Amino acid sequence: MDKLFTPFKAGDTTLRNRVVMAPMTRSRATVGDTADELTAKYYQQRASAGLIITEGAQISVQGQGYLFTPGIYNEKQVKGWELTTKAVHDAGGKIYIQLWHVGRISHHSLQIDGQSPVSSVAVKANNSTCYARNDAGQPGPVPVSEPRALSVAEIKDIVHDYVRAAKNAMRAGFDGVEIHAANGYLLEQFINGGLNTRQDEYGGADPENRLRFVLEVTDAVSQAIGAGKTGIRLAPFGRLFDMHAFDGEEETWLLLANKLNQRSLSYVHLSDQQTLGEQAIPAGFIEKFRAAYDGSLIIAGGFDKQRAEEYLQQGKADLIGFGRPYIANPDLAERLANDWPLNEVNWATMYGGDEKGYTDYPFWSDTQQNLA
Ligand SMILES: Cc1cc2nc3c(=O)[nH]c(=O)nc-3n(C[C@H](O)[C@H](O)[C@H](O)COP(=O)(O)O)c2cc1C
Repeated sequence: MDKLFTPFKAGDTTLRNRVVMAPMTRSRATVGDTADELTAKYYQQRASAGLIITEGAQISVQGQGYLFTPGIYNEKQVKGWELTTKAVHDAGGKIYIQLWHVGRISHHSLQIDGQSPVSSVAVKANNSTCYARNDAGQPGPVPVSEPRALSVAEIKDIVHDYVRAAKNAMRAGFDGVEIHAANGYLLEQFINGGLNTRQDEYGGADPENRLRFVLEVTDAVSQAIGAGKTGIRLAPFGRLFDMHAFDGEEETWLLLANKLNQRSLSYVHLSDQQTLGEQAIPAGFIEKFRAAYDGSLIIAGGFDKQRAEEYLQQGKADLIGFGRPYIANPDLAERLANDWPLNEVNWATMYGGDEKGYTDYPFWSDTQQNLA
C-alpha cells in the first residue's frame, strides 16, 4: 500500500494522509491585506491534503515585501482568516499558517513612513526584486531597497511580533503555525554566515550566534501556542535572494537540526529550491539531517507520486510537500491516489488577479461529467 495515503500525527494534529500543500504566495489579498471569501474557497477546494500550509502571511507591516499578501497582525486579518480555517475544517482538512518576515526583500514604499527595510546587516540583495509600487505608483516588480541592520532591541521586538502573529493565528482557528525561516528571508538572513557578519551575539563566525534569532523565535512561539502546534521551514544550502555559500555551511544546518531536535516541534519542513531555479540540497545531506533530527520531517521541491513514495519508504521524510502541482489541481491528493492525470498550470495567473487561475481549476470529477 502507498505510504503517502496513510495517516500521520504531526505534533498535536492528526493528518489523514501525508500529502502536504506547500506554502504558496498568490497575492490576491486586496483590501487591507486581508484573506477573504475567495481565499477561503481556494483553500477549501484543497482540503483533501493531509495538511495545508498557507501562503506566507506577514507578521507586521515591516515584514511585508510584496503587495497584496495577507497579513496576520491585526483584528481584521484575524477575522478574514477565520473564513479560511472554518471552510477547511468543514471539509475535514487541517491547516497551518506560514508566519513571514521578508527582512531585506522589501521596498521602502511598503514600509511605514517609507523607511528602509531591515536585515541582519546593511547589505542589499543583488539581482533581487520584490513587488511594490514603482515611482509612478504602479504595482510591479521593483529592485529591493537597501536595508538597515536591526538593533538588538528591535530583534526582541520582532520576536514579539512573531508571538502576536502566532496567537492571532490560534484565535483565527488555525491548527498551528509554520515559522518561515527559509528562502532568503529575514531569519535566513541571520543564519547565513556569508551575509551575517554582525559583531554582536546575533551574528559573526560562531554559528551559535547566527542561530540565536531563529531559536528565540521558535522558543517564544512554542511557549505561546505549544510546541506541538509549531512547525518551521528551512532551506539548507538555499541560494534564493542572493544567499551564498559560507564556511561551515553544513555544520550550521546540522547544528540547527540538533537544536530543533531538543524542542519537540510539530515538524521541520525542508525546502529544496531546485525547482525554483536554484541548486538542490546536496546528495546525502537529508540523511545527515535526519540523523541529527528525529522528529517529524516534511520535504518539498520537485515531488511527484513516485519520488514521494520513495522518500517515505526510505525513511527520508514523514510527509511530502507539493507546491506547483497544487495550484492547478485542487484535488491533487485524490488524483495522486487514483493515478488520474493532472491539470496544467497557467503561469500567467500565478500572482494577483481574481478567481481566474485560482479557484476555477477543475476537479477530476468535473472533467468526467463534461466528457459524459
Ligand atoms: C507561486 C509560488 C509561490 C510560493 N510562495 C511561497 C511562500 O509564500 N512561502 C514559501 O515558503 N515558499 C513558497 N514557494 C515555494 C513552494 O512552497 C515550494 O517549496 C516550491 O514551489 C517547490 O515545490 P514544487 O516543486 O512542488 O513546486 C512558492 C512557490 C511558488 C511556485
